[in-house]
Amino acid sequence: MSVFSIAIDGPSGAGKSSVARAVAEKLGAMYLDTGAMYRAVGLYMLKNGVPLDDPAAIAAHCPGVDVRVGYGKDGRQCVYLGEEDVSEAIRAAEVSLAASSVSTVPEVRERMVALQRRIASGHSVVMDGRDIGTKVLPDATLKVFLTASAEVRARRRFHELAQKGMPEPYEKVLEELVRRDDVDTHRAASPLRMAEDAVEVDCSQMTLDEVVEAVAALARQALEAKA
Ligand code: DC
Repeated sequence: MSVFSIAIDGPSGAGKSSVARAVAEKLGAMYLDTGAMYRAVGLYMLKNGVPLDDPAAIAAHCPGVDVRVGYGKDGRQCVYLGEEDVSEAIRAAEVSLAASSVSTVPEVRERMVALQRRIASGHSVVMDGRDIGTKVLPDATLKVFLTASAEVRARRRFHELAQKGMPEPYEKVLEELVRRDDVDTHRAASPLRMAEDAVEVDCSQMTLDEVVEAVAALARQALEAKA
């Protein structure tokens, strides 16, 4: 099979990462969670006291951010800031908001997109994010736009945070998710939107396994059509 790429975009909490990871495993492709990279940049800015409402300050600090991606023995993606493994730290609620802020800054996006393309080059890849189908991989073999209602997404994130020992009240999770949706869809630089040639999958009423099956089936169809 020749090299292929699958783009999975959509709003926060739709389950993109879980779906993308499982589909990559099924198809023997590399998985790249691009949101984790913006989260690492957000964490860097928080650690260095850079004001998140100051795009010029974020842009000025951007060249100093050393984001690296690696894969553990179990194949899980790990994200590093320099030598430090920040894979867990980037999941904190305050880092979610920081990631949303830094991802509005064009200088940050340019660096991340270049890094994402470099990591993926020469590999079959399943990448998830907000601008994969529209910007990072415009010629992707398959583009999926994964959505779910805000309430369903907030409920999932609420359980996920509780499971990780970082519980937050449901109302707060929902409020922050709606705020992030707003920032992600209204920013000037590569806003979240469905690529014209993407397939929309609304997973509000689907289990994770059902979504993985549906996306893998779409991928097989796309690969056959390309062959
Ligand atoms: O998918 P996530 O929640 O981990 O993403 C964190 C933030 O990063 C999110 O608010 C939007 C931003 N992001 C982006 O702008 N472009 C991407 N390709 C991935 C994430």
